[in-house]
Amino acid sequence: MQTKTIIEPFKIKSVEPIRFTTKEEREKILKEAGFNPFLIHADDVLIDLLTDSGTSAMSSKQWAGIMDGDESYAGSRSFYRFEEAVNKITHMKYIIPTHQGRAAEKILFSIIGRSGKYFPNNTHFDTTRANIEFTGAEAVDLLNETGKHPEIRADFKGNMDVEKLATFIKEKGAENIPLCMITVTNNSGGGQPVSMQNIKETSEVCKKYNIPLFIDACRFAENAYFIKKREKGYTDKSLLEIAQEMFSYADGATMSAKKDGLANIGGFLAMNDTDLAMKCRNLLIVTEGFPTYGGLAGRDLEAIAQGLQEVLDEHYLQYRIRSVEYLGEKLVSAGVPIIEPPGGHAIYIDAKRFLPNIPSEKFPGQSIVCALYIEGGIRAVEIGSVMFGKYDKNGKLIPPPMELVRLAIPRRVYTQSHIDYVLEIILEVFKNRESLKGYKITYEAPMLRHFTARFEGI
Ligand code: F0G
Repeated sequence: MQTKTIIEPFKIKSVEPIRFTTKEEREKILKEAGFNPFLIHADDVLIDLLTDSGTSAMSSKQWAGIMDGDESYAGSRSFYRFEEAVNKITHMKYIIPTHQGRAAEKILFSIIGRSGKYFPNNTHFDTTRANIEFTGAEAVDLLNETGKHPEIRADFKGNMDVEKLATFIKEKGAENIPLCMITVTNNSGGGQPVSMQNIKETSEVCKKYNIPLFIDACRFAENAYFIKKREKGYTDKSLLEIAQEMFSYADGATMSAKKDGLANIGGFLAMNDTDLAMKCRNLLIVTEGFPTYGGLAGRDLEAIAQGLQEVLDEHYLQYRIRSVEYLGEKLVSAGVPIIEPPGGHAIYIDAKRFLPNIPSEKFPGQSIVCALYIEGGIRAVEIGSVMFGKYDKNGKLIPPPMELVRLAIPRRVYTQSHIDYVLEIILEVFKNRESLKGYKITYEAPMLRHFTARFEGI
């Protein structure tokens, strides 16, 4: 029989206590942190949904790998295990470890980016965009139209707008586009998956113009699971086969192993181009370390190698995707506006519809983030005008298309009762939404301001 309850596919061998605080304490803590949850001590957070990055619980086999790590400076056994694990999934020729995803981006774009160049993507994650813009090049988002509408339910809302991509290439000239990316799943657009068909079509357009296609592979396993469940012809394929097919359409990948590597740190660059790989390795030696450890300890490479194997387990992915979907279903049935259907790693509250009376200039997403912390000690993150807002020449805010609040679910960390608690708190905040106020920024850094900005209630 097919049971209704999908259980956590693991037993718990080691536990980490979480600290309870009172509402009064949390009000004080948040005020001291300038109403920016990035600036709160993690010990003051009860349920931390700030990110699914580097927050996974490792398995006993990964911890065993940590003990077994080979810390040789060059040619470490752990590197070869890591290389083999990445190669098994990507079939890429050159695999270059980095200390996390953005280090891979930094190396790649330092080599191929400069002013006058363009890098299209379905949606660039903020570090990818920042690394591109840092070189003077332009990062361009070409997400399909459906993906921009939180209320429309569709299977593959992370898809690239392939027609727009072709037009864009003709307009800017293929010689000005050193590389095209596709992010799976599309984090900044709601953790929405990209279909195999779309990866294939994107790759065909790129091939036609001789532009290499790189996958931002942070959440490749979650994307593979959605393909298996939603795309015709993939039901009977294994998740490994699906992942392999995804990578077969690409010329390279950047990866943060802090997500679907199930590790607490790490990442890599993978590619087939010999000349580019040589350049990347040379820069890696200057900035990260020798090419067989790239800023990581041998034990980290072991943890990633093992994590990459575990992440493609069907029971794990079923539980993973279902726990996010479960939270999403309950929120939708209570009328809370979220991006539908829920993506792979997070629930995204649609702050524009949650707080229609607070305009972008007063940061509705930040207002919800603050309320969730005060109400229940839950830490979430704003993905809207605080994170992506720009200013015009008169200093007026240019808001991004969506105002979102992300509740990212760490992998294998929380159980169903934690999720039920989160649900209860969100519903309480939603019930009292009329009493929420907007915020203004009192300090901001010139780049990636959301990490360090300070706010005041209006
Ligand atoms: N690309 C995507 C799609 C990401 O989601 C991230 C990180 C990165 C690249 C950069 O990787 O953190 O290892 O340097 N996302 C995290 C998040 C930080 O919270 O979504 P990194």
